[in-house]
Amino acid sequence: MISKCLFPAAGYGTRFLPATKAMPKEMLPIVSKPLIQYGVEEALSANIKTMAIVTGRGKRAIEDHFDISYELEQQIKGSSKESYLTEIRSLIQQCTFSYTRQIEMKGLGHAILSGETLIGKEPFAVILADDLCDNPQGESVLAQMRKVYERYRCSVVAIEEVAMSEVYKYGVISGKEIDSGIFMVDNMVEKPKEEEAPSNLAVIGRYILTPDIFDILRQTPPGKNGEIQITDALLEQCKKGMVLAYKFQGKRYDCGSIDGFVEATNDFYRKYH
Ligand code: UTP
Repeated sequence: MISKCLFPAAGYGTRFLPATKAMPKEMLPIVSKPLIQYGVEEALSANIKTMAIVTGRGKRAIEDHFDISYELEQQIKGSSKESYLTEIRSLIQQCTFSYTRQIEMKGLGHAILSGETLIGKEPFAVILADDLCDNPQGESVLAQMRKVYERYRCSVVAIEEVAMSEVYKYGVISGKEIDSGIFMVDNMVEKPKEEEAPSNLAVIGRYILTPDIFDILRQTPPGKNGEIQITDALLEQCKKGMVLAYKFQGKRYDCGSIDGFVEATNDFYRKYH
């Protein structure tokens, strides 16, 4: 049973400076909704109601966003503007939010390990809110992954095919396809050069992890860029047991980059506004 979703949201977001100097990247809006709210909605669509958020310095806006703003709500009460708050109010009512801080930014693996205190010893989902996933014709990406987890009961990472010239930005897997779109991972490399990449199947910001990952992360030395990499820990988990990669249905926007952010903004404006 997966009941919690972890949101590592402690990164500096340097690609969006100066916008992210005093504001978390996860609060950047696609049209009028912050990235992290899309992430919480996706978790809820997979029937996950406990949100565990790993923040860092200067990220207080995230906590304020998932809280009531009495002054503002009083001000617009009874006016047509109240409808703008319907969605966020409903999220606050349905979900619980808990927070912990990553004290030093030592990478995604380290951020996930910092979340252990909020997760405990149970399988959990991870959403990187700067990867925005959209699948209007069907189930959300996390809901699809949950089904894969329920069938196989091991860690599952979401993957998509990228151009070979882009592999250096991602964790890249190789493996045997054991069912349609489901690969048993046999290798995983973080941000490889084109010639070192085991395939063009790139891991995106959605994971379901079994809790033994925490012990593995504790033992994982710093890897690429001197950061503790979730990719290295997953490869270790792979050697000890099994990790699956799932080629999801839907579209992912890399909203951690300016190009992906603008593309998502244009598409969401056209589709949903
Ligand atoms: P990114 O690689 O996008 O790094 O992190 P970043 O710092 O957010 O952004 P840039 O590259 O400087 O522009 C991927 C995800 O991992 C989280 C980030 O918040 C983001 O969701 N992260 C990364 C942490 O929580 N802690 C870290 O130490 C590193």
